[in-house]
Amino acid sequence: SMIRHYKFNVVMTNTTKLCSSKPIVTVNGQFPGPTIVAREDDTVLIKVVNHVKYNVSIHWHGIRQLRTGWADGPAYITQCPIQPGHNYIYNFTLTGQRGTLWWHAHILWLRATVHGAIVILPKLGVPYPFPKPYKEKTIILGEWWKSDVEELINEASNIGTAPIASDSHTINGHSGPVSNCPSQSGYGLPVRPGKTYMLRIINAALNEELFFKIAGHELTVVEVDAVYTKPFKTDTVLIAPGQTTNVLLTANANAGSKYMVAATTFMDAPISFDNVTATAILHYIGHTVSQSRKTVLASLPPQNATWVATKFTRSLRSLNSREYPTRVPTKVDHSLFFTVSLGLNPCPSCNNGIRLVAGINNVTFTMPKTALLQAHFFNISNVFTDDFPAKPSNPYNYTAPVNRSVNAATMKGTKLYRLPYNATVQIVLQNTAMVLSENHPFHLHGFNFFEVGRGLGNFNQKKDPKKFNLVDPVERNTVGVPAGGWTAIRFIADNPGVWFMHCHLEIHTTWGLKMAFVVDNGHGPDQSLLPPPADLPKC
Ligand code: C2O
Repeated sequence: SMIRHYKFNVVMTNTTKLCSSKPIVTVNGQFPGPTIVAREDDTVLIKVVNHVKYNVSIHWHGIRQLRTGWADGPAYITQCPIQPGHNYIYNFTLTGQRGTLWWHAHILWLRATVHGAIVILPKLGVPYPFPKPYKEKTIILGEWWKSDVEELINEASNIGTAPIASDSHTINGHSGPVSNCPSQSGYGLPVRPGKTYMLRIINAALNEELFFKIAGHELTVVEVDAVYTKPFKTDTVLIAPGQTTNVLLTANANAGSKYMVAATTFMDAPISFDNVTATAILHYIGHTVSQSRKTVLASLPPQNATWVATKFTRSLRSLNSREYPTRVPTKVDHSLFFTVSLGLNPCPSCNNGIRLVAGINNVTFTMPKTALLQAHFFNISNVFTDDFPAKPSNPYNYTAPVNRSVNAATMKGTKLYRLPYNATVQIVLQNTAMVLSENHPFHLHGFNFFEVGRGLGNFNQKKDPKKFNLVDPVERNTVGVPAGGWTAIRFIADNPGVWFMHCHLEIHTTWGLKMAFVVDNGHGPDQSLLPPPADLPKC
């Protein structure tokens, strides 16, 4: 294994999209940002230098950060932000991890433009558990706003307004030609006839789950969230913000032909987004008489195509082979039941006297002023409490329209749930229909978890666990909690520190759909959190 050095200069970069320009925050002037390439078990050192007026922090989404929570990145959770003119070296080891992950800013809404891919290759000489692709390409899906994203967050968080849809989706930073900007070109994906490619797809969008599709081609899913899966074929990939999906694409058409690649909204809610679908072109290298042939268009599922989403999600299984066994915890030490809700709180200064909030078990998480990990490590009191409720205090019919005056209000607090080292944990994430029912992609920092079950309606504590998949459930770091339903996950708390868990729709995180776990040190060697690096930013 080796040590890889990167330098990330966070700068303002003037950027033109949809035929209009604005300065955006980027890393090294690139959008999407630079790709980090390393191998399993390598150590990565990234020096982040903040040249902009905003506070900055960067999260390495899906990297386990075993005992190195100081390098995880969420602002005020594991570190104070890097202030303007300051820098910080993120230093971590990719222990036992390989596959596609990504990095993004983890403060305010900066991740809209501050993100990039992490490609972790297997150890030298170790093959993929599928035939080696001819080439690999990274496909980053994102969103673009013509207006200033920081303005939007202020509105959303202060007044609790509904999310403002982006103007367009993007594929590797490009929207493709759109009606009010027809001259704009899309991303081009050249392929050679007869070859197989691996696409490393990342959803870096702020607020939207996406369908990804290539006209005329089936895709074979081989990995999600940097864990191999049992290969399966699909014509549409469902991918939530935070998730990554590797697919094999066999270029089986003729030289010179062109096919549309598209990314569009999946929104299982009674609201609709009208942003532009991003398009790119898959074009076959080589000249033939068909060179002038028209692009084959993709027929996209409608925005609310729950059936397409469900079919995709149900097909996901971990590989569970001899080389890559699936180690699902079979006993559970901590069984948690979390309601995942949007809610309404009184707001005298707001238009209707109420505002949108969000909460888990009716707790709206309040960001502390000191990083939680420091408070934990140095025993600083009055920063957080560890009384996060293991279950809701007021059970009700979660998936039916409910009495908002009884259930919709939340309490504020910086509440954590404490876990002993190596505890096995099960969390049932129950979606609710309080304000409106919507998918929530939930991300847990510091761990991978197994998705042992999912269903519609209210979770049934007697019947549903009997149907859990404890053999080959998909292993990942971000899971979609279905609208009007629930998801059950399991993990082993083998990583001491403070670990954030939140909805990866940025608007919901802003409203408070987040909490954190504090995992105590174990008693054995190599079971405690390492001390902080000397350059850890101060608040
Ligand atoms: Cu990718 Cu806490 O986030």
